[in-house]
Amino acid sequence: MSHALISAALKTRENAHAPFSRFKVGAAVEDVDGRIFTGCNVENATYGLTVCAERIAVFKAISEGARKFRRVAVIADTDVLTPPCGACRQILWEFCGDIEIVLGNLNGKTEKVQLAQLFPRAFDSSFLGHQ
Ligand code: THU
Repeated sequence: MSHALISAALKTRENAHAPFSRFKVGAAVEDVDGRIFTGCNVENATYGLTVCAERIAVFKAISEGARKFRRVAVIADTDVLTPPCGACRQILWEFCGDIEIVLGNLNGKTEKVQLAQLFPRAFDSSFLGHQ
């Protein structure tokens, strides 16, 4: 259920380390067994080493052995719901394929989108066999 996923992302958002942007993001990805892996953004004083909430959630899941995913939730405090950045779209595509993305904010507004809508004509490993 996306309710549990949204709650997990909301809770994890509180752990965001965002002293530079003050923009806190929470993410949660659910695997096919119903396991939920969470992530928040972790910023760095060099800025460029900042890692987004979505990538942390996916990498935590992968490092715990999860391989097939059902959906991912992304929560931020914006009226126009915050979508994953370009780098996160690539990582989500790599590990989750055309996954359902649940976007949400702190007021309970939500919207579902498929990754393929946000990230058409993706580059992935299917191209690497062609020289
Ligand atoms: N951020 C995320 O964690 N996920 C998104 O979907 C958008 C951006 C973070 C990165 C940075 O810490 C802050 O939000 C501002 O860009």
